[in-house]
Amino acid sequence: MSSPAGGGRPSGTPGRSHDPVVILGVTGSIGGQALEVCAHLDRPVVAIAARNPSPELAEIARGRPGAMVVVTGGSSGERQSLVDALPGHSVRFGQEALLEVAGTPDRTVINGIVGAAGLRASVVALEAGNRLGLANKESLVVAGRLVRAAAERGRGELIPIDSEHSALFQLTSGHPARRLVLTASGGPFRGRSRADLDDVSPEQALRHPTWVMGRRISIDSATLVNKGLEVIEAHHLFGVAYDDIDVVIHPQSVVHSLVEMADGSMLAHLGVADMRVPIQYALTHPERVPSLATPFRLAELDLTFEPPDRDTFRALDLAYAAGRAGDGATAAFNAADEVAVEAFLGGRLGFLGITQVIELALEKVGSPPVDSVDEAIEVDRSARETAASLIAGVC
Ligand SMILES: NC(=O)c1ccc[n+]([C@@H]2O[C@H](COP(=O)([O-])OP(=O)(O)OC[C@H]3O[C@@H](n4cnc5c(N)ncnc54)[C@H](OP(=O)(O)O)[C@@H]3O)[C@@H](O)[C@H]2O)c1
Repeated sequence: MSSPAGGGRPSGTPGRSHDPVVILGVTGSIGGQALEVCAHLDRPVVAIAARNPSPELAEIARGRPGAMVVVTGGSSGERQSLVDALPGHSVRFGQEALLEVAGTPDRTVINGIVGAAGLRASVVALEAGNRLGLANKESLVVAGRLVRAAAERGRGELIPIDSEHSALFQLTSGHPARRLVLTASGGPFRGRSRADLDDVSPEQALRHPTWVMGRRISIDSATLVNKGLEVIEAHHLFGVAYDDIDVVIHPQSVVHSLVEMADGSMLAHLGVADMRVPIQYALTHPERVPSLATPFRLAELDLTFEPPDRDTFRALDLAYAAGRAGDGATAAFNAADEVAVEAFLGGRLGFLGITQVIELALEKVGSPPVDSVDEAIEVDRSARETAASLIAGVC
């Protein structure tokens, strides 16, 4: 088992702990918490990026006069309103500007973009030799081999932010493990049957029991798609075969993941359910400093573990199958899910339809070869098209 790729400067060099920070997806759940952590650590934020030129983004930018602002979407009128709202700020637009801030050397890039849209920024950050704090698991799901190759080529350093993978990263540092065990809360519908899930609403599905997160990952947690994406992410991060990655339901979200060692010992990582801790670790690794999280009281905890209900939450096994089929299938898995989740949130698809669309899209798209980022983006595009036409047919 290998550890996450990269390390322009030797992995975990304290010098990285002073690099200025770029926050991609700054208006989101991860982005907002990354801002809090940077303020807590007194780390300079040199650039922030989001998709929409929104008033929310302008508000965030006003609090950081020195930071460059990058926006990838919006109409020309909306873009001009943002420029007008931020006199004295450097405001840039488009994908090229996003890649330029991610790919400027000697920075730590926090990638909190949601979806396959985060892929290119991860690749250029690693190619530039930067430390990449990766929340955007889709980068690895869509093009895992290429992301690892970019880290090796550019000697960039990849530190996972997903709480489970941050836990595994910490547990495996210096200790080869024979099995990874990812914990899952089970989401809001744990214990329900398929029949119970026929007509659940987006509001019900968005109500996650232990984490407050963006809309897509919340729905993905309810279907267990998120855990499937995380299995694929773990495979690429730690170089572990799918047969040696397990998932266990742990509703309290206190044990963030476990590893099994050669002698059968299990090591677990425990912590409060607060994403500011793994975000901070990605910024300070290998150092540990006090965080913003409130410590828990171990004696008050009642920790339980159970196997996932693979019949009701079939997306988990679909993710394993896609992972075994290759990068083309995992890219298609992710794209079909992104489209299906949007349709579910928009009232155009039922909850169980999300998994159905993923399964049918995988059958149609298969696992095309993915030997370049452009090819990965092409598989993503074609799987989105397939998923959209399946949804149009279902409704
Ligand atoms: N939230 C969590 O606790 C958590 C935990 C573990 C892992 N993650 C992972 O972290 C990532 C972000 O999740 P989230 O919950 O923070 O999502 P979120 O709250 O929906 O935020 C997404 C962010 O991405 C930006 N964005 C979307 N498309 C973009 C594009 N094409 N170019 C630039 N920016 C773009 C959005 O900008 P606009 O606001 O302008 O649309 C927003 O700032 C996901 O991969 C998720 O799986 C999240």
